Amino acid sequence: MARRKKVYEGKAKILYEGPEPGTLVQYFKDDATAFNAEKTGVIDGKGVLNNRLSEFFMSGLNHIGVPTHFIRRLNMREQLIRQVEIIPLEVVVRNIAAGSMSERLGIEEGTPLPRPIIEFYFKDDALGDPLVTEEHVIAFGWAQQQDLDDMVALALRVNDFMSGVMLAVGIRLVDFKIEIGRIWDNDFQRLIVADEISPDSCRLWDIESGRKLDKDVFRRDLGDLGDAYAEVARRLGVLPSNVTHAAKPHLIN
Ligand code: TMP
Repeated sequence: MARRKKVYEGKAKILYEGPEPGTLVQYFKDDATAFNAEKTGVIDGKGVLNNRLSEFFMSGLNHIGVPTHFIRRLNMREQLIRQVEIIPLEVVVRNIAAGSMSERLGIEEGTPLPRPIIEFYFKDDALGDPLVTEEHVIAFGWAQQQDLDDMVALALRVNDFMSGVMLAVGIRLVDFKIEIGRIWDNDFQRLIVADEISPDSCRLWDIESGRKLDKDVFRRDLGDLGDAYAEVARRLGVLPSNVTHAAKPHLIN
């Protein structure tokens, strides 16, 4: 039997060749890693939830005119995406101090920031994805000034959209990471949101209780990561409950 070609395998996802040129199939694994894969685990069902959640966020962004790589979900663990040239930067937007910013600058976790702060990290596992400045980005040719301006604009639009969507279900968007890719429309380059948007790449705190509903649950051993992600999916109305639990066939009228 013909086997489809694996294009890339990362820590939480696999990319396969897509059905037509310029497309890929993105497969969500159950694997969780933290601290540059020093800590690893398998969380039953995480891939299914992240596939749904990333679909939910990316299709919402597409609808409001923020371009993303998402085309459509194919099945429980896979989605069809546009192939992009990934810019080798992790773009982090922070609304509230937490994680590495709190550690680096000695700001207590939970301190609201005066405005959203955008940071760039160079995607290089061997170096531990170091924080870099716009000067580094341009000097080393990872992106041009125009790309940086476009990335900042995209990141802020994603922040506003995600903050609003999460606020509506009682969750505070503390920070998140996106990756951005280039696509070519004839001779013109456009930047679009790529990779995934899920609780693996965001910090999400319940507004009432402060309960963490993101990968920090795994990083910091705070409980069951699957439960936390299922809670986010449930509140957003995207819990694939009719798919994960074998249901009897029933008539749809
Ligand atoms: P940080 O506080 O550890 O720098 O993380 C900032 C945000 O970026 C947080 O929402 C988690 C996300 N993130 C990733 O998605 N991947 C990573 O490799 C890291 C370090 C952070």
